Amino acid sequence: MFRNLALSTLTALALSTGGAIAAGGAGHVTDYDFSFEGPFGTYDQNQLQRGLQIYTEVCAACHGLQFVPIRTLGDENGPGLPEEQVRAYAEFFEIYDPAIEDWRPATPNDHFPGSNLETAPDLSLMAKARAGFHGPAGLALNPLFRGIGGAEYIASLLVYYTGEEVEQAGTILYENETFEGGLISMAPPLWDGAVEFNDGSPNDVVSMSQDVAAFLMWTAEPKMMERKQMGFVSVILLTILSVLLYLTNKRIWAPVKHRTRSDTPAE
Ligand code: HEC
Repeated sequence: MFRNLALSTLTALALSTGGAIAAGGAGHVTDYDFSFEGPFGTYDQNQLQRGLQIYTEVCAACHGLQFVPIRTLGDENGPGLPEEQVRAYAEFFEIYDPAIEDWRPATPNDHFPGSNLETAPDLSLMAKARAGFHGPAGLALNPLFRGIGGAEYIASLLVYYTGEEVEQAGTILYENETFEGGLISMAPPLWDGAVEFNDGSPNDVVSMSQDVAAFLMWTAEPKMMERKQMGFVSVILLTILSVLLYLTNKRIWAPVKHRTRSDTPAE
């Protein structure tokens, strides 16, 4: 009886795991190290600035970041650009202003423009919309230990082009080992040296992919640092509270616990 039960449980577990992997769909995802991982991880400001530069010079040609206010580029826990640089940056973009029924240069209070190319999705929340790691269904072990892997997914997507192209119904699709289904309509956007950094940071495809993925993680979760800090403070407070509770409990029950036989009322 027990053996049967154990066997069927194992089979069910094996089946559900297999199903989850198939449903996950995403192909190869490399577990790159990012500075913001772990309970104390923080964004690397220089990396975010490099990512912003890559986004602006390459990705913005097609993609948008319509949920990101330009002024947040000055955030201390974000790219941390000085105010005048944020203002100068905003003026790069022309946006349509319904109030004056005309186009005007953007200001820091505007959001980034949306996608230029209809088929290119908005990237504001992409790092939270895609998961790089799928654990066995229901156990949530991967998200617990490695995170959801949105940044890893984006970085891998940019790296793992095979260089093969396929023509389907008049459109060219590019073979990509990370993209679900293996064929993506985005041509490889990066190549070695595509962007030059002022400080001479490495600009090979693998480094730049991680930089722009980190930047997109920030656009999707700009308050990650604050959230972690708050979590940390909560854990400390809860620990103090637990110790106090333990001591109070001991004190309240002390008279009862230390009662000797002679204390008990005679029957
Ligand atoms: C020439 C236009 C173009 C450029 C430049 C471009 N993309 Fe794309 N991108 C697309 C299109 C089109 C799609 C939709 C692909 C599809 O669904 O087949 C896409 C899809 C994506 C996706 C979503 C993939 C998914 O899982 O659905 C991500 C992430 C992405 N691009 C990131 C980037 C980044 C980062 C850059 C800059 C380094 C960039 N793209 C540059 C056109 C572009």
